[in-house]
Amino acid sequence: MRLVFLGPPGAGKGTQARALAREWGVAHVATGDMLREALAAGTRLGLEAKRYMERGALVPDDVIIGLMRERLAGPDAARGFIVDGFPRTIAQAEALAGLLKDAGQALDRVIYFEVSERELLRRLTGRRICRRCQTAYHLVSAPPRTPGVCDACGGELYQREDDREATVRNRLEVYARQTAPLLAYYSQRGLLTTVAGEGSIEAIRSAIRAAAGAER
Ligand code: AP5
Repeated sequence: MRLVFLGPPGAGKGTQARALAREWGVAHVATGDMLREALAAGTRLGLEAKRYMERGALVPDDVIIGLMRERLAGPDAARGFIVDGFPRTIAQAEALAGLLKDAGQALDRVIYFEVSERELLRRLTGRRICRRCQTAYHLVSAPPRTPGVCDACGGELYQREDDREATVRNRLEVYARQTAPLLAYYSQRGLLTTVAGEGSIEAIRSAIRAAAGAER
């Protein structure tokens, strides 16, 4: 199974990708998580990415494409993957197609999460993330059992720098300008399925299973 989860910031891609990758035994490949890990480790990549991430801009295509080339060649990705947060530009989509073609593979489906802007703002400003395992919570709609503590691993929860309202608005603008054109790109290739991204997390998960042809 080779899937891309596409949608604006806060659409629920990470929440669903993390759980479904575990359920299906495939790799969860999230460029945002990879960049935040590099930043926490203080690597050159992390320091370069920080300049873009903190203002809600996209990290340059060549940096991200290089990162993905390495990641998708990893042994766990050979069993299949859900890519979350990539591609975000037409150049990244072309590069992904090229990488897969070179490996004799192709994408099975691109799943687009449709969510209103009002709901995106609500979700992002109330989001808290686990510092250790990156699981996402929401102060109101998906709170942890113990405030400030991750249910999954006991790690500390924090608010992402880029989840402050002014940066969120910029991320939404960047999405509309640079990433939304991918909807037409994948639709023209017969790969796009739209899933309503509002509703309960479990109902959305069932819709994704159906779209991916993996109903239980
Ligand atoms: P990244 O980390 O990829 O952020 P994003 O795409 O903006 O997506 P988010 O993580 O904000 O949202 P999500 O859709 O995963 O939602 P989530 O499941 O957490 O990227 C960050 C930055 O890195 C970018 O701005 C850029 O600088 C850089 N970058 C990354 N990839 C790049 C690339 N390819 N090219 C260039 N630069 C790149 O859910 C959100 C909240 O909603 C949570 O609180 C969750 O609990 C809650 N929630 C989820 N589902 C529901 C539901 N059904 N009902 C109610 N609440 C829900």
